Amino acid sequence: MAFVGSGSATPDQSLSNDQLSLRVDTNDSWIRSRTGICSRRIIGSDESITDLAGRACLKALKMANWDPESVDLILLATSTPDDLFGSAPQVQAKLGASNAVAFDLTAACSGFLFALVTAAQFLQNGSFKRALVVGADQLSRWVNWDDRRSCVLFGDGAGAIALEVSSSKNDGLIGFHLKSDGQRGGCLNLPKIQDNLPLVDGITYQQGGFSTIQMNGQEVYKFAVREVPSILENLLESNKISPESLDWLLLHQANQRILDAVADRFAIPYEKVLSNLSNYGNTSAATIPLMLDEAVQDGRIKPGHLIATSGFGAGLSWGAALMRWQGPA
Ligand code: ACO
Repeated sequence: MAFVGSGSATPDQSLSNDQLSLRVDTNDSWIRSRTGICSRRIIGSDESITDLAGRACLKALKMANWDPESVDLILLATSTPDDLFGSAPQVQAKLGASNAVAFDLTAACSGFLFALVTAAQFLQNGSFKRALVVGADQLSRWVNWDDRRSCVLFGDGAGAIALEVSSSKNDGLIGFHLKSDGQRGGCLNLPKIQDNLPLVDGITYQQGGFSTIQMNGQEVYKFAVREVPSILENLLESNKISPESLDWLLLHQANQRILDAVADRFAIPYEKVLSNLSNYGNTSAATIPLMLDEAVQDGRIKPGHLIATSGFGAGLSWGAALMRWQGPA
């Protein structure tokens, strides 16, 4: 299995820290020093997550030099679909990938990593030959813009990667570990609205609908700086790979302080830690492929490079994978 293409898409509207401080009691210096974020993109009212995901996939298709009809699987990692029944089939329709099965996978900020590993299973067991994995989220539609403890962190975007079976005996996905802990889920969630309505005499129902992101930032921070190094360490050890042999550390872009803490733990120089959260904030399932695509496009990630990646977030959920980038044939 080989990683042969990438693509990304972000909305045009950019919201700086200074602009945000006109809406909520915060300031540029607090946000930069606590998170590393300077601005984020906000999806426009005429755009959808299907549009962003579709644009990212089209670019990945182009890089991989694939005909859309040759794609077997489209996995859309998102917690914020346009349609609660799933948005992946709409991405498939946009691409004209008429032979692909398409479905959504939800695991918040770990979603892209979980989807990547899921797609790889279909390729490795011989069920499918070509897959597109796209992470896309529009959290701007679900944050409470008056809650300064959370709203400053998030932005919107999409990133995609193209995977295909390969004849090489060296698999592009070298190894992975995935974890969940629902016991700790309460420190970061997007709960449903609780309103009991009468249906008929003696029977009530709840109308569907969700609240806004609820987050205990300090607990999530502690979770990330404890679990991410631990899962990465286990993964490196079980695959007999030393931190020095990594070309890149590609973490979910949640907070620069989390990225630095993980790098310090493995003594990985900061130049090897990919980061673009200053421009985009936390785009949830999109951060890893958005960052990967940027580094492929600007030539930092080259064919043969070894990348350690880790996603973490609501659920709680977290995971890590070791991947070797191949690029287009
Ligand atoms: N602007 C100005 N002041 C603020 C802001 C803000 N935006 N937010 C909080 N403050 C204030 C607080 O009120 C507090 O003031 P007080 O001491 O007078 O009460 C002070 O700043 C410190 O607040 P803390 O919450 O202790 O700040 P902390 O250093 O923990 O940083 C942060 C907060 C940035 C949220 C950090 O905890 C963090 O990054 N946590 C991880 C969050 C995360 O990554 N979530 C996404 C996970 S991925 C997913 O699945 C969606």
